[in-house]
Amino acid sequence: MKNQQAHVILILFLLFINITLQLTAQNIYKDSSVPIEARIKDLISQMTLAEKIGQMQQNHLSKKNDEVFNEIKLGKIGSFLNAGDINDKFELQKIAVEESRLGIPLIYGRDVIHGFKTIFPIPLGQAATWNPEIVKLGSAAAASEAAEVGIHWTFAPMVDISRDPRWGRIAESCGEDPYLAAKMGSAMVEGFQGNDLSSESSIAACTKHFVGYGAAESGKDYNTTIIPERYMRDIYLPPFKSCIDVGAATLMSAFNDINGVPASGNEFTLKRVLRDEWKFDGFVVSDWASMTEMINHGFCADETEVAYKSVKAGVNMEMVSQSYANNLEKLIKEGKVSEDLINEMVEGILRVKFRLGLFENPYKQLKEKSRTLSAEHLTAARESAEQSFVLLQNTDDFLPLSKLSKTIAVIGPLADDAQAQLGCWSPDGDPENSITPLKAIKQLLGEKTKVIFAAGLDNCRSTNTEKFAEAVTASEAADAVIMILGEDDLLSGESHSRAFIDLPGAQEELIKTIAETGKPIVLVIMAGRPLTFGNIVKDVKSILYAWHPGTMGGPAIANILFGNVSPSGKLPVTFPRTVGQVPIYYSHKNTGRPPSENQLGIKMGTPENPVGFASYYLDVDYTPAYPFGFGLSYTTFEYHDLKLSSNEILMGGKIEVSATIKNTGKYDAEEVVQLYVRDLFGNVTRPVKELKGFKKIHLKAGEEKVVTFSLSTGDLAFWNIDMKYAAESGDFTLWVGGDSQKGLKADFTIK
Ligand code: NOJ
Repeated sequence: MKNQQAHVILILFLLFINITLQLTAQNIYKDSSVPIEARIKDLISQMTLAEKIGQMQQNHLSKKNDEVFNEIKLGKIGSFLNAGDINDKFELQKIAVEESRLGIPLIYGRDVIHGFKTIFPIPLGQAATWNPEIVKLGSAAAASEAAEVGIHWTFAPMVDISRDPRWGRIAESCGEDPYLAAKMGSAMVEGFQGNDLSSESSIAACTKHFVGYGAAESGKDYNTTIIPERYMRDIYLPPFKSCIDVGAATLMSAFNDINGVPASGNEFTLKRVLRDEWKFDGFVVSDWASMTEMINHGFCADETEVAYKSVKAGVNMEMVSQSYANNLEKLIKEGKVSEDLINEMVEGILRVKFRLGLFENPYKQLKEKSRTLSAEHLTAARESAEQSFVLLQNTDDFLPLSKLSKTIAVIGPLADDAQAQLGCWSPDGDPENSITPLKAIKQLLGEKTKVIFAAGLDNCRSTNTEKFAEAVTASEAADAVIMILGEDDLLSGESHSRAFIDLPGAQEELIKTIAETGKPIVLVIMAGRPLTFGNIVKDVKSILYAWHPGTMGGPAIANILFGNVSPSGKLPVTFPRTVGQVPIYYSHKNTGRPPSENQLGIKMGTPENPVGFASYYLDVDYTPAYPFGFGLSYTTFEYHDLKLSSNEILMGGKIEVSATIKNTGKYDAEEVVQLYVRDLFGNVTRPVKELKGFKKIHLKAGEEKVVTFSLSTGDLAFWNIDMKYAAESGDFTLWVGGDSQKGLKADFTIK
């Protein structure tokens, strides 16, 4: 009897221990005091294979219905993009958290690219500010507005290097240069994510599109890319690395074929570079159906192969298509994919969900006083736009215009187009919140100035010239004409490439017609890409390039045109004279036969080969219309006293480079001081110039400042002939100046 009792007690005791252990085990991943890695391990150990594969699926929410609810309940969906309003998000999250077996929260993604409700300039415009601080501010504002409606994750920044203005997505990029894009992209990541990803105002960033997407052949979207490994590593990868280094939580695999292997199944980029070399521990989401599109690429025969190749490469989450959901279980059963690999993929996803604090706060939402469209955000958007504008021409210092002008004509289809100024990728921006240039100019000038508006054309693409007469009448009555032309928001962005990059429609004709009135013209160009407009530069006094400036584009343009602020933007991309020069970029190689200055063009009637066998065009100058880094100001800057702490750097060491910049004009203004370097001889050929530093400084009229850069041999490293990343000893030249083509010059040597 006693024995029996002891037996029962023992069994009860063991049961108790077992239950306690189970409870403890179940609770580990829910316990916020436990380190994230232990929580991940615990959660994975409790997940079924189906639940793991579920985490790897991201759906676009087209309709809420029982089927969707049921899938969430069964743990078959890990994430949604475009998941409706806050109520929809909470409703779905409630099912995930309360009704699915393990209660794993969903993560909600959305394209919050250059603002949410308060739209900032397009990213290419933000890059033109050369001001990482204001870029960071813009992304932080966008994050907080998105966080108010329960968005956890943005698909930005895009740091695809693009040297082709035909490509519609150049608008979304930070331009042609790896150094500038790295600085701007990482500032965006810092802005979106803040100091703490779990904070209610932070959202996770997604650095995209990995990788080389901007090198699409012929500028046609989604097109093939051919990028030798050295170029990949020297040019296309560095901005991604910088974003990862500042903690970008996620990354998106691109649509393009890279050297024969599509980006979403590319083991070299996704596995070797991203995981093995960079030790990225967040997760990779494929671009929209980019995985199943590998069938069209001719890289996978069916969706089973898609799932196999993508998971092997390391895509953690599949956006919209369902090759993982339909095939991974089978691939594991067949022994082709190991469950360990699946665990690894799911760990990355859970890690980001934990870092975002979603397990503690699944209904995460910025609840404090709304910042959406707040005065603070609108001011930041205006300042960002002001700093993004690039003054390309200012004949006779025609700008700024006097605020005392009697009559101003505002002409052009983009002068009062509240939607166009928002630019591409602003799905949550509302044109009703835009202040257009016309409205802002009227507001700024007040009653004393008469502002006459005539669109001249129904829209920027129109070729119907019926409304020219009205524009001519308006111009004839004015002291000065402000023409606001360019591209509307529809002409750039995804799948919106152009083969002609001139001003569309009859806009050139409109400029010529207005010029015939003899009235001085200020041309403001809004566009999502560099346009070619050499035909009309002589017809206008001034040209201000305003990109797509966002919600506050109007006040920003008015402030610049009427001198409240001096322009300080610099080009983040080279402007060609004609599309035939594309690709054209400042950091090109020298060739064996570089052209010289007397080889600018060729005159008709000259004898055969008058300028020699050089690398140039017969029918257009080899130089660009406007170089990278270029931008005028209302004031003038003088650069002097270039000093190097030494003309020799020992390998591993560094030097200080300084120059004095003086504002020699009448206006207080900002200048972007740029440092370029040329490595004269290498074991592989080196670009003629590379940006190695920049600083945006404010100088009052008459003021001067010393700007100092530190330059280490590490900054001069490149992927050498042995594919090692190292600097080489030898001779270098450096320049400090206000654009990529002119500057103070000095030589130094690495010993
Ligand atoms: C496709 C685009 O390429 C990508 O940039 C975007 O984030 C996704 N669609 C989601 O909208």
